Amino acid sequence: MAAKFITLEGMDGAGKSTHIPNIIQMLTARGVEVVSTREPGGTLLGEKLRALLLHESMHPETETLLMFAARREHIAQVIAPALARGAYVLSDRFTDATYAYQAGAKGVEADKVVQLEHWVQAGLQPDITLLFDVPVEVSVARLSSAREPDKFERESAEFFAKIRAAYLLRARENPDRFKVIDANQPLAEVYKAVEAVIAAL
Ligand code: TYD
Repeated sequence: MAAKFITLEGMDGAGKSTHIPNIIQMLTARGVEVVSTREPGGTLLGEKLRALLLHESMHPETETLLMFAARREHIAQVIAPALARGAYVLSDRFTDATYAYQAGAKGVEADKVVQLEHWVQAGLQPDITLLFDVPVEVSVARLSSAREPDKFERESAEFFAKIRAAYLLRARENPDRFKVIDANQPLAEVYKAVEAVIAAL
C-alpha cells in the first residue's frame, strides 16, 4: 500500500487528540508502518520551538516563521523519510493550522503563509486532512474544564470563532483533501465517522 500523509486539525477542545490512538490502531491493523507525530514539534528542535511558541508572547509573523522553521525540520527529519519508505504519517496538526491560527485569527496575511508553504513544503501536501469540527461554545466549554491552558487556549471565544471559520474555509477550498468530522456528537459516533474516513483511504 502506498505511503499516505494524514493530518488532524481542529480548534483546541475539538477532541482530536482523543482519537489519535484509535486512528493509529485502525492503520496498524492494515499492516502498514505508522509514524505518529505532531506540530509544532515532531523533532528535538521542533519540540524546543513548541515550548517557545506555546508559552512566549511574540509578533504573529514571528510565530508564523517559527511554525514554519519547526515544520521544515519536521519534514526533513521525519515526514519525508517516512513517506519515502512507504510509511503512513499521522500528524496532529500541520499547515492548515497556520492558516487558521496565524492568518485566520491573528491577521497574518494569508499570502505570506502561501509563500512560506511553497518554500518549506515544495509541493508536499497531506493526502487527507480530518477536521474535527465543533461549535465554538463547545470548544470553549471543554477547554475551561481542562488542564492548565497554554497561550492559545487562553484566547477568547471571538478568537476561536475566527479559527473555526478559517478551517471551514480551508475545507471548502480543498474539498478532495478535507474530511470534516462532526465532533459534537457522542464519542462512539465520532469514532464511526473517523473509521469510515480511514476505511475509505
Ligand atoms: P495542540 O495541538 O492543541 O496540542 P495540545 O492538545 O497538547 O494542546 O496545541 C498546539 C497549539 O499550537 C494549538 O493551540 C494550535 C497552535 N498552532 C498554531 O497556532 N499554528 C500552527 O501552525 C500549529 C501547527 C499549531
